[in-house]
Formats: sequence, structure tokens, C-alpha cells
Amino acid sequence: MTDILLTGCNGMLGQEVHSLAKKTKNTVIAIDIKELDITEQDTTSSFIHIKKPNIVINCAAYTNVDGCETDEDNAFKVNAIGPRNLAMACEEIGASLVHISTDYVFDGTQETPYDEYDIPSPQSAYGRTKYAGERLVAHCCSRSYIIRTAWLYGIKGKNFVSTMLQLAKSGKPLKVVDDQIGSPTYAKDLAEGIMTLVEKPRYGIYHFTNAGFCSWYDFAKEIFDQAGLEVDLSRCTTDEFPRPAKRPAFSKLKNNMGPAQGLPSLRPWQEGLRAYLNEIDC
Ligand SMILES: NC(=O)c1ccc[n+]([C@@H]2O[C@H](COP(=O)([O-])OP(=O)(O)OC[C@H]3O[C@@H](n4cnc5c(N)ncnc54)[C@H](OP(=O)(O)O)[C@@H]3O)[C@@H](O)[C@H]2O)c1
Repeated sequence: MTDILLTGCNGMLGQEVHSLAKKTKNTVIAIDIKELDITEQDTTSSFIHIKKPNIVINCAAYTNVDGCETDEDNAFKVNAIGPRNLAMACEEIGASLVHISTDYVFDGTQETPYDEYDIPSPQSAYGRTKYAGERLVAHCCSRSYIIRTAWLYGIKGKNFVSTMLQLAKSGKPLKVVDDQIGSPTYAKDLAEGIMTLVEKPRYGIYHFTNAGFCSWYDFAKEIFDQAGLEVDLSRCTTDEFPRPAKRPAFSKLKNNMGPAQGLPSLRPWQEGLRAYLNEIDC
């Protein structure tokens, strides 16, 4: 009997969840696509029936937001069919499923922060496939947690912070988008939130981001200030920096569900960033 089965354990969030889960009393099986491709229904079902976890935490995903635009079928397989396969198998053995989703399920036109039960309206292929995944998980598994997060960065993998630090080394002037607003979230803080949430059965949809919000420009400025780097940084608009996938202009997530049940909020995003920069010795 396994307490936790973690999929996508080599990813940015997966490796943070893995290192935390290992420190608990739970037995943990951590796997990635080499051990199990979650898009394969029969293999996924057999794997879960054999391992019999109490909780599956799904950190596997197709996360290349722009890449999804030209590869939506594959993105759908990983972001919707894969979670559906996990959800069905979890339901069959009575396990819970934690599934991670995104602020990109919203269109970003609302003027107030999105709460857990605002109606999604994804504007990109990535957002559509992730929203389909959410619906399939909720439909197929009666013990599911759907956790939406945003603007993730962590030790493993390329992310906005590592990209900014890399670009700063070039000494060239930098322009960063100032008309998209969201909540930068440290993957380690999110992992802690997930592990606290699943201590008891508290199924439902959750928004988990570090507290506060900013634009990508504000985020870049804070990165350089905290890292003590002098960078010639200026603001630009989304129109000046076109990308294949449309991003929501305002995707601040209101974290209602956790605090409503007495769970601690994640710390302010600036503090998460400080912890991350310390961790990477910057
Ligand atoms: N990154 C963000 O800014 C962000 C923001 C909001 C929400 N999220 C959500 O947070 C979750 C974690 O994101 P992340 O950034 O940690 O992702 P990530 O670093 O891209 O990790 C995803 C992992 O899933 C694996 N994977 C891909 N296809 C698979 C398959 N068919 N079967 C099994 N494993 C597979 C990947 O392997 P390969 O690398 O070999 O493909 C990778 O190890 C995702 O659900 C994502 O949608 C992320």
C-alpha cells in the first residue's frame, strides 16, 4: 500500500512536492513519463490498481503555453485525457486525486480577482486543454482537489526568474510586459500548501498562489532589486511583444477556499522570491 503516488515528479512543481512528501511519514512513489505515460489509459489503470495509493498528486502536464497553439491534440492528451485516466483509476480504487491547473483557464477580462467558482473562459489552447482536464477530473473522481496556481517558478526548470537572471548577465537593456497582472508563485510554497491541504479530505477547487499581485515588469524589477543587479529595465505592452498564445491580462486568483477552512495563506510573493533567491545563492 502506497500513501502517495506523484506523477510528473521531474517537473518544476513535481520535484518540490517530491522533496516535501519524502519528509513526511507517507510512503511515496514518484514517477514521470519514463515510468508511466498518463495518456495511456490501460497502463495507467493497471499501475494505479497495482500500487493502490491513497492519494495521487498529478504534477504531469504539457506546459509549453505557446507550443500548445500548434500542438493542441497532444496537449489535450496530456492535460485532459491523462488526468481523466488518473481520475477514473482513483475512483475505482477509492483514492483521492490532486490535480494542478492554471489561471489561464480565465480570460482575464474581469476587473476583480477570480475566485474558485468564477466561470472559466480560456483564451488559449493551453487554457482550453487545462480546463478540459479540470472538468474531467471533477466528473470522474468523487475525491478530487483541483488546484489552480499561477506564474510558477522553482529550482528546477526554466522559468521567468531564471530567464531574467540570465538576461541580466548580458548587460543589454530589457523591456518587460507591464499590462499583464498575476501572482508570482514559488513552487516550494505551493508544494507546502498542497501537502497541508491533503492532510484531511477537503475536496473541491482551490486557488493557491503567493499573496499579492504585480505585472511582469514589477516582478522583473523586484527580481533585480532583490538580487542587487543593475539592469536597464523598461516597460512594454503585450502588443509590443506578441506571442502565439493569448495570455489573460488580469489573472489575479482570489484564494478563498483554503482560508475559508482555516488553512494558512501562502506568503506574499516578494517573500517567496527572497526565499527562492537565497536557495539558489543569488
Ligand atoms: N509553470 C507555470 O508557470 C504554471 C502556472 C500555472 C499552473 N501550472 C501547472 O502546474 C503544474 C506543474 O507545472 P510545472 O511547471 O511543474 O510543469 P513541468 O515542469 O513542465 O513538469 C511537467 C512534468 O510532466 C511530465 N509529463 C509530460 N507529459 C507526460 C505524460 N504524458 N505522462 C507523464 N508525465 C508527463 C513532463 O515530462 P517531460 O519534461 O519529459 O515532458 C514533466 O516532467 C501543471 O499542471 C501546470 O499546468 C504551471
